[in-house]
Amino acid sequence: MRITYADIDGFRNLSGISFAPDPKYNIIAGPNAQGKTNLLEAMWILSGCRSFRGSKEKDYICLDGNRMSSKIKLRDSVREQKIEFEMTRSASSPKNIHLNGVKQKGTRALFDVFKCIAFIPDDVEIIKGSPEKRRSFIDMAASQLNPVFVVHLNKHNAIMNQRNALLKDISQGNSPASVLEIWDRQAAREGTIISYMRNEYVSKINEICGRLYRTISGGNEELELEYRSNVFRPEDFDSPADSQAEEQYYRKLQDTSEYDIRTGSTHSGVNRDEIIIKINGVSARDYGSQGQIKSAALVMKLAQAEIFMKRSKDAPVVFLDDVMGELDENRQRFVLDMIKDMQVFLTTPNEAALLPEIKGKLLYISEGRITDEKSNISSCGE
Ligand SMILES: Nc1ncnc2c1ncn2[C@@H]1O[C@H](COP(=O)(O)OP(=O)(O)O)[C@@H](O)[C@H]1O
Ligand SMILES: [Mg+2]
Repeated sequence: MRITYADIDGFRNLSGISFAPDPKYNIIAGPNAQGKTNLLEAMWILSGCRSFRGSKEKDYICLDGNRMSSKIKLRDSVREQKIEFEMTRSASSPKNIHLNGVKQKGTRALFDVFKCIAFIPDDVEIIKGSPEKRRSFIDMAASQLNPVFVVHLNKHNAIMNQRNALLKDISQGNSPASVLEIWDRQAAREGTIISYMRNEYVSKINEICGRLYRTISGGNEELELEYRSNVFRPEDFDSPADSQAEEQYYRKLQDTSEYDIRTGSTHSGVNRDEIIIKINGVSARDYGSQGQIKSAALVMKLAQAEIFMKRSKDAPVVFLDDVMGELDENRQRFVLDMIKDMQVFLTTPNEAALLPEIKGKLLYISEGRITDEKSNISSCGE
């Protein structure tokens, strides 16, 4: 799929941005703090995902303005669709989302329409950060493949919130411990599904990561991902996710429930899962060099794109924020080759550092506006 038209106004520092993107490469250039990343973010939020910057929706509106809007036209193999996201500071109806002119309740429906993958400098946190970062990467990638996964994740979250509130009630003597059972049965049902889906996605991505990392490292380094479920052993996943598996999950929750009541939080289940990432057999998080960590994060994202491509006839749109200029020539070529069938939006403070084959539309951004627009150029000015 590709964006054929974008119109953004009042989103952070952006104003009056309107352009017809190149079907292939779109280079967003300009000095620091001019709005390059904002431009990617303004399009990204139309995918129904939370901002890749982890910011709150109210921060989208320009500090000295009252409204923002971000609109795109999106063409896939079937048709052209229109997504509109508008927000005002008004308390009554702050957010307005339209898909093909039809008002939507929230951003949920957009998730099935606009598929994109963002590569950002913060991706190294997938390797270096807390286990939660790895879980959310896997959850998000698996959801993109199978949107029903989001439903299970949301249900599980809601159950956990209820359970954790209940733990406090029990410790204060306001509820008997027996009330946990009903929540634990539901948590076991959702948690079992989530564990199996995570296991499936991790083994799929592990296979691809191994191959890609060998290539990017010149054939002498191994990248491995391993799902460490808090409940199930690897061999348990050979059996189906049936009532017996749920029972196993339920028992695990019961095992820690006394401790949970004392501490007021849940210590077993999918919220305690880990995804171990190893380079040459040792933990990348603990022993990886900067370069290895960067390459591993890049490879995981590329693997996500490859899995998505295999499943869908519509390639996702790719956003590369300050990523290309940082890579040496070989790595840039490797990335380009992987994303060759996808529409790309990339930001860079220095378009001269890009490979000459990156030809397309060049947009200069200054103080939130497009100050120059060139088509069909090479980044080296050929
Ligand atoms: N809500 C907002 N309202 C107005 N300006 C904002 C808002 N949020 C961020 N900015 C401005 O956006 C600019 C940073 O944009 P960014 O896209 O990160 O720059 P870069 O070109 O370096 O990627 C800064 O000047 C910052 O002050
Ligand atoms: Mg930036």
